[in-house]
Amino acid sequence: MINQDMDFAARLIQWQQRHGRHDLPWQKSRDPYRVWLSEIMLQQTRVATVVAYFQRFLARFPSLSDLARAPLDEVMAAWSGLGYYARARNLHACARRLDAEHGGDFPRTPEAIAALPGIGRSTANAIAAFCHGARVPILDGNVKRVLCRYFGVSGYPGAAAVEQRLWRLAESLLPQRDIATYIQAQMDLGATLCTRSRPRCEACPVAVSCVARAEDRIALLPQRRPRRVLPERRVRVLLLADRQRLLLLARPPTGLWGGLLSLPELPEGDDPSIHAANCLGCEATQFEELPPLRHSFTHFHLTLLPLLAHARPQPRAAERSGETWLGRDDCAAAALPTPIRKLLQRFFELSPAPGAAPGPEPAGESGRPAIR
Ligand code: ADE
Repeated sequence: MINQDMDFAARLIQWQQRHGRHDLPWQKSRDPYRVWLSEIMLQQTRVATVVAYFQRFLARFPSLSDLARAPLDEVMAAWSGLGYYARARNLHACARRLDAEHGGDFPRTPEAIAALPGIGRSTANAIAAFCHGARVPILDGNVKRVLCRYFGVSGYPGAAAVEQRLWRLAESLLPQRDIATYIQAQMDLGATLCTRSRPRCEACPVAVSCVARAEDRIALLPQRRPRRVLPERRVRVLLLADRQRLLLLARPPTGLWGGLLSLPELPEGDDPSIHAANCLGCEATQFEELPPLRHSFTHFHLTLLPLLAHARPQPRAAERSGETWLGRDDCAAAALPTPIRKLLQRFFELSPAPGAAPGPEPAGESGRPAIR
């Protein structure tokens, strides 16, 4: 039975010990490298997805110095599919800085941790609390939801004034001890009980003093971001197929999909065969439109309009920087943005399976090139 006199933190700590999550792979260690990696992966991605990525990433880069010494494209390949690729670029930059300037060690104070690339206040505080027992609050999306409901806070929690208020409330709730368990409890509560839709208030350890519950405002809090219509972007992309390989281009290091491989884009109004000849070093013929693919980002919607063609690279094309011709297996291992990977998967699924005898070229009744 939960004692109703206990304060918020004490109830959460007790609940975490009995009902919280204890077997997540990053919980086995207080090593700042592992904790940092897990917190960055978990910033915009669910636990269920992160677990496998976390384990694979650590197997590939077992220590901070392994990560610092790896080329960026290998880091991007290990991150491929997790999205929000600035996280991977910052992770690599951060590892390099720590290796060069801090002897490969993480700083201990939340302020010094927050000064590193890609680490905000909440993540820095989580790392300092988990690894060193620092008595500092966190305020990620889950905690914002919990506090908005518990204290009945109106207003969009991403708005500066609301966020400042939530930081003050988070600070006021901190326990004197068991800080790591308390921080984990907040994460677990937000992820498993105080969820955005259909929260399980009957199992919540602080339901008795929750303002939103008392006022029947659970479904109204936290308030949503004020609505705005996101812009639509449509981009034509080329699937240039030379026998079993497709042409991919490295994106510039910053900006959308920075550092990843992607398909060539066809500038508005350009003729595809002229563009392929002048800008991509290949002769492209037999163009075929494939079904569009829509993908939403936080700031806009993107519709990719794929155009498939047979390609014949011109001599010396292999030397062009940033261009690479990849087959099915290389595409599977490459650092690709999720929508581009989906397009390639769709495409390869329509092509003969690996090991199948190569057909005449161009192959198949559709006239599609045989890409494997
Ligand atoms: N979300 C953010 N950080 C987390 C953690 N350490 N465990 C579970 N979920 C989280």
